[in-house]
Amino acid sequence: MTNENMDERWGFETRAIHAGQKPDPQTGAITVPVYQTTTYEQDEVGKGRGYEYSRTGNPTRTALEMSLAALEGAEFGRAFASGMAAEDTILRLLNPGDHVVMGNDAYGGTFRLISKVLTRMGISWSPADLSVQENIEKNINEKTRIVWAETPSNPLLSVVDIQMLSNVAHTHGALCVVDNTFATPYLQQPLVHGADFVVHSTTKYLGGHSDVVGGFIAMNSPELDQEIGFLQNAVGAVPAPWDCYLLLRGVKTLPVRMDRHCENAESIVEFLRGHPRVIDVLYPGLPDHPTHEIARNQMKKFGGMVSFTVRGGADEARKTVAKTNLFTLAESLGAVESLIEVPAAMTHLSAEGSPLEVDDSLIRLSVGIETIGDLLTDLDHALS
Ligand SMILES: Cc1ncc(COP(=O)(O)O)c(C=O)c1O
Repeated sequence: MTNENMDERWGFETRAIHAGQKPDPQTGAITVPVYQTTTYEQDEVGKGRGYEYSRTGNPTRTALEMSLAALEGAEFGRAFASGMAAEDTILRLLNPGDHVVMGNDAYGGTFRLISKVLTRMGISWSPADLSVQENIEKNINEKTRIVWAETPSNPLLSVVDIQMLSNVAHTHGALCVVDNTFATPYLQQPLVHGADFVVHSTTKYLGGHSDVVGGFIAMNSPELDQEIGFLQNAVGAVPAPWDCYLLLRGVKTLPVRMDRHCENAESIVEFLRGHPRVIDVLYPGLPDHPTHEIARNQMKKFGGMVSFTVRGGADEARKTVAKTNLFTLAESLGAVESLIEVPAAMTHLSAEGSPLEVDDSLIRLSVGIETIGDLLTDLDHALS
């Protein structure tokens, strides 16, 4: 859907509340209604009022698409039933024989989709350290059509220079896709740096309340939007109207939540760095993080995700995550409540034995927006 009803001069916070969300013209309802309908009356054969069938389009979904596109600074946006459905839709642009270059620390589900599903359709792939231009170029071949990055990445929180990546991709005739799930458009807008597609698991920070699974694609090219729109309807992995409503509700507070996520994460990083049982802390905001300078240039703040390793290896990591109270042992991330996990055994298990395998002593925190003193006490207890 195009970005109508949006004032280009609006700041991010205003967009989060108003873009795509005018009061309902019929009733004046301030909140976009949940249009829980499958079909729409036609005035005559083939002449509807903008909607025919809810897989093809639904007004609650339209509002969500306009809202999220406005936040990404995008001309077009398409919403999906999950982050994986959004990823799958982009990857359906490929033909047998095509090749994908992806980050060597991508989310396990992205790795599984590309390496275990798309390979059945004749797509090949190469993992690469995308922080170094030569590594990307070494892995690109004449069949490469997509270069796929997550930045910051899940769970190692490495940062990729999006402008450099998109320049390299375009030089070789490939599309640049950036998974912006960890940063959110509040902290980073990849289209400004040349990316062709931004993809999201809206399940995370955009929803923000651990109550909805969803995905989103943002883009500026009308041709790409046409292709993605065709696939959205043809394949049909669309979100339900109620899920769109929950996302619209969550997005309104994205900026204030993100500020608190970042603030709490910074305090936790400082605490972990000073703790004798902690070996290494991964956070792009740390001046000695290998890609800190890139993060400083393309991100507003450094996000709410923190990874670290503890002395004693995998066993100690498992014991530590079992001892927290406020940090709930669970997969997922980006919601108001704090979560803790061991990626190698949980979110990234599907990468076991592959080049994307994660160190089994790594612990990942999704830092929530609770009182920081309570979060620090909880971690201190778990580590002691
Ligand atoms: C960075 C990233 N991208 C994509 C996904 C997939 O999204 P979903 O779980 O909504 O399908 C996830 C899920 O954890 C993720 O962390």
